[in-house]
Parts: sequence; C-alpha cells; structure tokens
Amino acid sequence: MSDQNQLNPLFARAGEATDFPLNALPPGESLPETAYQVVHDEAMLDGNSRLNLATFVGTWMDPQANLLYAETADKNMVDKDEYPQTAAIETRCWKMIAGLWNAPDVDNAIGTSTIGSSEACMLGGLALKRRWQLRRRAAGLSTEKPNLILSSAVQVCWEKFCNYWDVEPRYVPITDDHKCLDGFELEKYVDEDTIGVVAIMGVTYTGVYEPVAAIAKALDHIQAETGLDIPIHVDGASGGMIAPFLQPDLEWDFRVERVASISTSAHKYGLVYPGLGWVVWRTVDDLPKELVFDVTYLGGHMPSFALNFSRPGAQVLLQYYLFLRLGWDGYYKVQKASQDVAVYLSGEIAKMPAFDLWNDGTDIPVFAWQLAKGYTDKWNLYHLSERMRLKGWLIPAYPMPDNLTDVVVQRIVVRNGLSRNLAESLMLDITEAVAYLDALESPMPTEGQVTSFTH
Ligand SMILES: Cc1ncc(COP(=O)(O)O)c(C=O)c1O
Repeated sequence: MSDQNQLNPLFARAGEATDFPLNALPPGESLPETAYQVVHDEAMLDGNSRLNLATFVGTWMDPQANLLYAETADKNMVDKDEYPQTAAIETRCWKMIAGLWNAPDVDNAIGTSTIGSSEACMLGGLALKRRWQLRRRAAGLSTEKPNLILSSAVQVCWEKFCNYWDVEPRYVPITDDHKCLDGFELEKYVDEDTIGVVAIMGVTYTGVYEPVAAIAKALDHIQAETGLDIPIHVDGASGGMIAPFLQPDLEWDFRVERVASISTSAHKYGLVYPGLGWVVWRTVDDLPKELVFDVTYLGGHMPSFALNFSRPGAQVLLQYYLFLRLGWDGYYKVQKASQDVAVYLSGEIAKMPAFDLWNDGTDIPVFAWQLAKGYTDKWNLYHLSERMRLKGWLIPAYPMPDNLTDVVVQRIVVRNGLSRNLAESLMLDITEAVAYLDALESPMPTEGQVTSFTH
C-alpha cells in the first residue's frame, strides 16, 4: 500500500472504488478495509438487533463466547473424523439436553444437533412418518396417505414438513375457548393414517404452552377406544430450554410416555447465536435405523441423521461453553430474569385501557395482547407497531391463524439482554405512542395495511 493510501481517509482515496454495483460482481478488487466498511455500513441499516422484540433468536453473547466463535468459525460439523473433539462435544451436549428433558435412560436415547428447530422438527417428523410406514408395511397395510395432527397455530416449519414430505396436515383450529391444541375433540382428527401429533411448548403466536400431558391423555383415551397408538413430537423451539429451569414440575417432556421426540432451538432460549438446534429421541428405537447414516469417526462409526451435509461446528462449541459457564443455576437465573421482565411488561400493558392481554409471559417470556374491544376506531395495532419503529423498537402486529383471523395481536419476546431498565424505557415509549395516536383528530389511514410479519 502506498503512503498516499495509508494517509488518505477511507472513501476519499484516489481511485478507490466506492460505487459498487448492487447486483453484479464488481469487475475489479478493492482494499479489504474499504470492502469491510461498505459491508459493515450496509449491515448497520438493519437497525439494532437488541431492540428487535419480534425475534426469538439470540442477539447477545458474552466476550468469551465471541472469542470462541471467532476461533472456531472454520469448523465443519460434518467432518467428524477431522474434528473429533467437536463431534464428541456435540454428543455431550445432546446427552445433557436429554437429561434436562428427563429421558428415562440417557445412554439409550439418541440425538443430534441441527441448523435450528426447523431441521430438528423435520427430522422428528420424518422419524414419525418412517415408523408409521414400517408398522403399516409389516401389517400389509397401505402407506399412501399419512397425516399429522397440528394446531392451526403451528410454526411454518410444520407446513413445510407436510408439503416437502407429502404428509397431510390436519389442523385443529384454535378458538376463543381452546386457545391452543389441548386434546379437545382430537378423536375427530386422528385415524389409522395418523403418524403423530405435534405439541408446541411455546406457541409462536403467543408464547403459551400446549398441555402435552392433556394431549397425551386424550390419545390414551383414543387408544383405549380404537387401539391406535399415536406418538407425540414436542416442538419445544423456545420452551425446551425454558421449562426445565422455570417450570421443572410441569410434565411435558419424556416423563410423558407418549412423547417420542423433542426438538428445540439452541439459538432461542439455549442462548447461542443463530444456527443451532437439537432433537432428541426417547430411545434409539424411536429413530428408525433406515434413516441413520454411518459416518466414520476416529476409526469407528458415528450415527448421523441430518438434512444438511456441511454446517458450522462453532455453534455447538458455543452451546457447550454456555453449559459449562452457566450450569443449571446460571440458566435458571438468565431465564428467570427474562421472565421477570416479561411479567413486568405484561402487567404494565394490562394496566393500559387500550389493551387486553392474551397471556402474561409466565410460560415462555413472551406475551401478546390485542386492542381492547370498542377502545378506538382511530388506530390499530399496526399503527402502534409503526410508531414504535420510529424509536427503533420492533414489535410486530399480526392476525391470529384460521378461525381467529379477525383477531390482531401484538407480541413482545423478552430475551436475555432486555433489562428491566430497557423495559421501563420501552413502556415510556409505548405510553407516549398510544397518547399520540389517541390525540389524533382524524383516524389513521388503513389503506393497504397488511402485516409483513411471518412466523
Ligand atoms: C414453535 C416453533 N417451532 C419451530 C420454529 C422454527 O425454528 P427455527 O427458526 O430455529 O428453525 C419456531 C421459530 O420461531 C417456533 O417458534
């Protein structure tokens, strides 16, 4: 680099290319610091992820985790032979999680890391489908029309699962009386082609837990009447790493015998940066052997069941770091702090005449509210969401799923890092925004108003 280049400030050096084409590969190279700055600045336009109260996904880790991340960014999780220690740590992690989820015999359970809950749910669903196929084939019965029972408020990954793997989704609609899948009228949905039932620990729309034990009881009843033995997959994307700490007595996991598999997002309340999930099966028999590939590992063999081949190994090491760093007590404290903030916020929202709470954040630290009936015709929750964006806060508003689509709710996800202090500032901003909207002389326009938020 010439002295000229070293002295001149960035973006003002002679001949420096700062006008990059947006959608075509630039013809020539640029200085690393220029390219860095341009990308850094573009990322800046995304806003501040800490103020994103829409996402469940981790936006903060401590400096040691950041250091570890930078040191291990080169590791490929699939190279078990080349990175045997990372592979061993992956096994240690899912065994710890199997223990947290009360697997009856951790040494006879089986699990894997994934890229997130979506992949983990796909694997859980695939195992349910294959077990049903094997059972049906052995009995000489048709395997043409598998179906899966789901709440209408499932996350989109389950719609994908059913679409990609040709499984008929049977949605049980949520209603004002049955705000989540709770076993009510399950017998109307289940038949001999049902591969399983999905129970969600922490419904994405609202954060409420589906009562896994009640769903299992309804299935016990169905089995007694019809002989159909239907397993449950628990989608614990968020609750899988909350319930073991905050609701240890709640029986939602492998203590419920019908639960064959459980998945979670490590990058949600597992507290790791994006790119990691876990799925665990109660026993090795719950994961059909036909789905498992053998990977050579340290001269031996390692079972592998995944949709992707290569993927980052660093997140697995970050999960292990957090398990060592926090232990049970540390996880409890972090999750409890988030829940305290969620309960504080929901309490403040409940006090405002504009709003009716849907739930209060005492399951996972997530809650939703709706506009109080008859409160105003001048504005709606989409307008409030827009006003909050002016202050940098992202608080989505969206309609509930089928049968309740006329109900629009707004939701806050409290994560590690939303301190009580920040929450108090947030309440001031919400109060100010509501006062502004209330004081308008004419109604806010609603033309073209649609939610851009997807679950
Ligand atoms: C209940 C539930 N299941 C699955 C997912 C998908 O998780 P991921 O983003 O880790 O793929 C989510 C994400 O919000 C979720 O809330």
